[in-house]
Amino acid sequence: MKIAISGTGYVGLVTAVALSQIKHNVTCVDIDENKIKKMQQGISPIYEKDLEELMQENKERLTYTTDYKMAYSNADVIFIGVGTPEKIDGSANLDYVYTVAKQISESITKDMVVVIKSTVPIGTNDEIEKYINDNTKYNVYLVSNPEFLAQGSAMHDTLYASRIVVGTENDYAKDIMKKLYEPLTKEPYNVPYLSMNRRSAEMVKYASNDFLALKISYINEIANFCEKVGADIELVTQGMGYDKRIGNNFLKAGIGYGGSCFPKDTKALHWLSIAKDSELKTIKACIEVNKEQKLKLYKKLKEEYNLKNKTIAVLGLSFKPGTDDLREAPSIDNIKALLDDGASINAYDPVAINNFKKIVDSNKIKYYTDMDACIKDVDIVMILTEWDSIKNIDLNKFNNKVVFDGRNCYSLEEIKKYSFKYISIGR
Ligand code: UGA
Repeated sequence: MKIAISGTGYVGLVTAVALSQIKHNVTCVDIDENKIKKMQQGISPIYEKDLEELMQENKERLTYTTDYKMAYSNADVIFIGVGTPEKIDGSANLDYVYTVAKQISESITKDMVVVIKSTVPIGTNDEIEKYINDNTKYNVYLVSNPEFLAQGSAMHDTLYASRIVVGTENDYAKDIMKKLYEPLTKEPYNVPYLSMNRRSAEMVKYASNDFLALKISYINEIANFCEKVGADIELVTQGMGYDKRIGNNFLKAGIGYGGSCFPKDTKALHWLSIAKDSELKTIKACIEVNKEQKLKLYKKLKEEYNLKNKTIAVLGLSFKPGTDDLREAPSIDNIKALLDDGASINAYDPVAINNFKKIVDSNKIKYYTDMDACIKDVDIVMILTEWDSIKNIDLNKFNNKVVFDGRNCYSLEEIKKYSFKYISIGR
């Protein structure tokens, strides 16, 4: 099939490459000419495992352009994969989705299936379908097809997805989507395929992300309580995880969730629930707990030390390992707070330094991709991202320092063998 995809961020580009891998011809559309030029040379604009290799492997089936008219008029199916960032009030900003919808209505030359992959509030597919059909003479059928990829494993999560969820209100669109995804439902991928109505599909996305965020906030609150009552959260979650109904995923206590999805999607669903006069109280609590959790470790540090003129080594800047993404990363709030207290920072990260420089501009931060050099002359180390390089460090290098670990990278048994002070979360 001939597919056009608008937006070449995580969702758009990874979807494009996955569809080219199952032999569809895909045209990626973006307004950013520099990005398009890079991709035409086979270079991925984002750091993501396997993505660039697969872009190159499938290059005959992948085209990159800023010419949306050409892309949309030639397509059998158009995917919308643009961002839906958070507005100041927490609701989702649909401006980019509407811009693409307008361009689609101006460009298409036949009846068309349009698939929304972007995370959009429940009811958005209905609205966009009406908007496009009001502005074109062709029949356009909207499909909700949320994505469940996580950064760092995006390519694998798309090809070997936990499930494909497709929400339609029309048999024609339903058949097209089945055909489009058929290869992924077979060997070697064997992805379960769920067909449902559009509003349910839209809700699956929010309910899934918000449940995972809630699980993290819950375990972080329990971790904080463990500190009060003398329990160890790592042992507690181990004990909980054996119960299959609970499971042992997403029970890692730390300094809160970040990224482009959980913070935005919890706020958007909470906002929508208030707008519908039916507030989701669990989600509200989840958001509050996470906000406080991000600075929990910093507060412990501040309680014990005068930070003025101290240099703190911060290990890990990205919101999680395997990505250079800094959206809502705890490192931003923590480093800003430390700078406000008059501290200087030695910051280590294997890939996120350039992005961090664009967000926090201070001559009191020195950057390192060499961890040894970063921690060499400092007394206090703060761990904010659990990169393998940090988890696997020779712990002797921390001797005589104080380590504040926001990701519980080391076991307490192991730490006993060394001579440094260790403060972590929930232990
Ligand atoms: C998340 C979901 O996991 C994906 O299923 C979803 O498709 C995606 O959002 C999205 O909506 O696009 P992502 O934001 O890439 O993916 O990252 P996660 O691995 O879920 O981690 C999110 C945050 O939670 C990170 O800051 C991570 O450190 C934190 N986390 C995760 C914990 O603090 N504890 C855990 O046990 C797990």
